[in-house]
Formats: sequence, C-alpha cells, structure tokens
Amino acid sequence: MPKIAILPGDGIGQEIVPEALKVLRAVLGDKIKEYDIQEYLVGGAAIDRSGKALPPETLKACQEADAVLLGAMGGPKWDNLPADERPERGALLPLRKELGLYANIRPVKMIPALISASTLKEHVVQNVDLVVIRELTGGIYFGEKGRKSNPPAAYDLLYYTEEEIRRILKIAFETAQARKKKLCSVDKANVLESSRFWREIAEDMAKDYPEVELTHMYVDNAAMQLIRYPEQFDVMVTENMFGDILTDLASMLGGSIGMLASASMNGKKGLYEPAHGSAPDIAGQNKANPLAIILSAAMMLRFTFGLEQQAARVEQAVRKVLDQGYRTGDLAGPQEKIIGTREMGDAVVAALR
Ligand code: IPM
Ligand code: MG
Repeated sequence: MPKIAILPGDGIGQEIVPEALKVLRAVLGDKIKEYDIQEYLVGGAAIDRSGKALPPETLKACQEADAVLLGAMGGPKWDNLPADERPERGALLPLRKELGLYANIRPVKMIPALISASTLKEHVVQNVDLVVIRELTGGIYFGEKGRKSNPPAAYDLLYYTEEEIRRILKIAFETAQARKKKLCSVDKANVLESSRFWREIAEDMAKDYPEVELTHMYVDNAAMQLIRYPEQFDVMVTENMFGDILTDLASMLGGSIGMLASASMNGKKGLYEPAHGSAPDIAGQNKANPLAIILSAAMMLRFTFGLEQQAARVEQAVRKVLDQGYRTGDLAGPQEKIIGTREMGDAVVAALR
C-alpha cells in the first residue's frame, strides 16, 4: 500500500493541511482507500509533546513513506531554543538530509486571474512560466559550521562534491529538456571557487544535452533579471542558499508566496510543502491561503504517484476558483472580497466536481 506521511507542523500548517486532504479525497474519490495516510508530529508541535522537533517515529514514518506532505514549521515560541533544537535545524533540514531530498523544485507560473495581486507591473509578469531547481542537501546549509573564541568568529562552509553537483544538474537538464529547453545555471563564479567548479561541470554535462541551451548567470544579476524581465527564464538551477533567496523573490512573480508550491525529491520519493512559512501572525484565524499546499499535493500526485491526470485536475480547479474571484487576504486587491482558509478549500473541492 502506498504510504503518505502527513506532517501538519506549526502555525498555519495546522489549518492548510486539512484543506489539502479535502482536495485529495475529492480528486481520488474511493481510490483514497488504497493509500495509507497517517499524521505525525513535527516541529514546534513535536517539541511541545516530546521534546524533539523530529521525533524518531516521525523520521521512521517519513523514511518508510512514498511521499510526505508537510504544512509548515517553526514560530516565535521556539525561536530561543539552541539552534540545533529549533524546528528548522532540528527537523526540516535533518528531514531533507535523512531522506536524501537533494532536488527542490519550485515552479512559478502567472495565473492570469492573479496578475493584479503581484506587486510588479502587468507587462512584466504576465508571461512568467519558470521553475527553479534548488540543490537542497548540500552547499552552505550543510557545510561545516562553527564558532571560534579568540578572536570571536563564526563560519559556514560552502562545500560541494562533484557528485552532488552532477545529480542536481542532471535533474535540471532533464527538466529543461521536457520544457522550453532553456537552462540558466545561477552561481557566483566571479568570486566563489565552488561556483567555478559548478560551472565547469555544467559545461561538461551540456554536451550530453545538445538540445538544451545552457547559460550562466551570477546570482546578483539573476535577482535583478527576475524582476526586470522574468519571461527570459525557463529552468533555473542553483546552489542551496542562492535558491532559497531566489525562490522567495520569484514567488512574487506568481502573485503571492501563498501560491508557491514545492517538491523536494529523491527519485520518485518526495516531500511536498508550500514554500511559505508557518505565518504565526495569522495562525489560527482561518486566514491562510491553502493553495500552495493544495498545489504541492498536486505535485505529489504527479511526481510520486504518476497520477498526471488527477494532478492536472487539481491545478485546473485552483485556476477556476481564482477565475471565479475567490481570494484569501494575501491575494485580494482593495475591492475584493476575502474568504477564509476553509472556504478556499471548499471552493477548490467544488471546482473539482
Ligand atoms: C525554505 C525555507 C527553509 C530554508 C527554512 C525554513 C529553513 O526558507 O524552504 O525555503 O531555508 O530552506
Ligand atoms: Mg526559503
């Protein structure tokens, strides 16, 4: 029986996960009984109950699962814990590492109904359709880190093996091959040795993908180009931290970070989560936008379970509710009526019928 581990986590994670489950039930119908779907504790919620952000039973369940659907982790309540015990470094990063989820895929596509929700001008964002492939288990996030006392200092090492770079570039080339065949590798090769190494490997691999047009761009320029002329991008691939920063930036090209879905993959196995955080400021108020996790669930249907048709139906339903004018607070313009998290989930379910 295919297994899905559900990790609601903290803050709005608790509110958006039930909406994604509603949508999964609606799109899978009776077939949902063929899946083993169970919830586990993670993040601050797990710290409160068990003292650990990633309890061993949660890790084990995620290791055994085919897919993990995650809400969000963290919040002010746990911010003052030692760094390694906090939800981010105590659960999210170890989960990525332990499950070997080295490829993070974040698609950004402008949904016409949301053009006015973007803070950028219409002609800039109207044709945005790009995907950022972020290396997720290496680089500066996972390199050696530490403190020194005399003189007081701190360091984080940006370290990549050739194998780590090759496997993420392979995903990027293949993704580009299946799309518009344009791959932009983002680095800081004018300064960083790891980036020069990355570039050499990308050039070497390009020979195996003659149809894909490979370009390189410095990360600072990429940030500028993303808001200047985002249409130029098809697939972007980059180091862990560069990807973290660029994907938040790129999310606004699709209207709101509340729309940005994300898949973290290791082969067919994946952890699916919205790219936004736990939003403690609006948590528990039925205000959060559930569409990013609903779209993440669609990616799960497609990438892990090969259910392309069902995934496309969910994506169509999301477009339909937006066309119909349903808006959560993050998407609403000044004159637009705002609906709640549950109402948005219900609207997607209705649109699936
Ligand atoms: C993301 C988040 C995480 C990251 C945080 C919560 C550790 O910002 O998934 O982009 O930096 O990877
Ligand atoms: Mg981030």
